[in-house]
Amino acid sequence: MLLTNLSIATMVNGYSLIEKGAVLIEKGVIKSVGPDTPKGDAVDCGGRLLTPGLIDCHTHLVYGGNRASEFEQRLNGATYSDIARAGGGIMSTVRATRAASEAELLESALRRLESLLAEGVTTIEIKSGYGLDVETEMKMLRVARKLGNLRRVDVKTTFLGAHTFPQEFKENHEGYVSIVCDQALPRIVSENLADAVDAFCEGIAFSVEETKSVFKAARAFNLPVKLHAEQLSNLGGAKLASRFNALSVDHIEYLDEDGVESISKSGTVAVLLPGAFYYLREKQAPPVAALRKYKVPIAVATDLNPGSSPVHSLLATMNMACVLFGLTPEEALLGVTANAARALGLKDRGVLREGYRADVVVFDPDTVADMATYENPKQFPKGIDYVLVNGTVVIDKGQHTGARPGKVVYGPGKRSRVR
Ligand code: NIG
Ligand code: FE
Repeated sequence: MLLTNLSIATMVNGYSLIEKGAVLIEKGVIKSVGPDTPKGDAVDCGGRLLTPGLIDCHTHLVYGGNRASEFEQRLNGATYSDIARAGGGIMSTVRATRAASEAELLESALRRLESLLAEGVTTIEIKSGYGLDVETEMKMLRVARKLGNLRRVDVKTTFLGAHTFPQEFKENHEGYVSIVCDQALPRIVSENLADAVDAFCEGIAFSVEETKSVFKAARAFNLPVKLHAEQLSNLGGAKLASRFNALSVDHIEYLDEDGVESISKSGTVAVLLPGAFYYLREKQAPPVAALRKYKVPIAVATDLNPGSSPVHSLLATMNMACVLFGLTPEEALLGVTANAARALGLKDRGVLREGYRADVVVFDPDTVADMATYENPKQFPKGIDYVLVNGTVVIDKGQHTGARPGKVVYGPGKRSRVR
């Protein structure tokens, strides 16, 4: 397949654009990217923008229940931490997720996934962390894996058993850390349910020492680590993460320059989550100037979850990263492509270059600034003309083609059906 007459954001060595370019795809892989050379058998893309498939590298897409009442409580003066300490917050979603069947979790997660896919997301990371017991954590991860079989999207899963301490272990942290490390992790590894391990290092969650135990256990199984760090206060989680060569540290509103320097040395990606900053009405923005100074790769993700970031749009999140944190549109695009791939440890995608996966998006908005402006797109859905995953066309002229693995029927006039 040859796509011509394109403006190509290759993202090779940072943001770079080929003004009038063409890309050749063969067997799911990019064969060549370069200047346009008119040929008969090509798809003329009318000068549109071609980017790598978008990567949402931090989500909590699978969960039960809803937390709108907490949004209301915060607007009436309660803080995110107050609500968590009173047994709400993450624990509220834990109760709903434990009560939900696997089929129910799958159905609701699919609906959320669809809205991301319609924007050109081709790889998504999904965390557990609303089970906080072995069975429910595994249930969440199985659902996440299944989503990748039901839709043309590559799903990477992350075990987040260390999201917070469940009610029954509030007074026995050691006991719960042992469940995470000695019971959940070995079973999750033996069933190949996780590609990475994450924790929430914060006053209302895991301390630095407790996080360290989880990281040690993960590394013993050869799993890479990530960390929710420095979201509400500066505990030094990012520094610990850098000592474990973490793939990423995420949120990092309270990260100081010292912390930025440490993660720059370990090659750890800084994942910014403007949706959570926005929903929680936070005041302190992440240290973007220091991240630039130390050349730390910056990624941007939705953090899709019912409590701190009920955001189902990666394009809107790019816009928030620009408005709230001052990223340029080019930085925002890097954040959902090349740097997001890095945050997941993926070396075969995120840039358009020979030999890489043919995950690409043709946008109707013609420039990166259009994308980040998030202005009314011309095409339905969401300004997407074409999406290719692994070389297969999954959206054609804004419409799903029905190219799906598994037993799911989806397309114009058909309802999606999950078995
Ligand atoms: O990334 N910060 C911790 N964890 C999630 C939110 C979890 C929740 O509130 O349900 C986050 O914001
Ligand atoms: Fe998160």
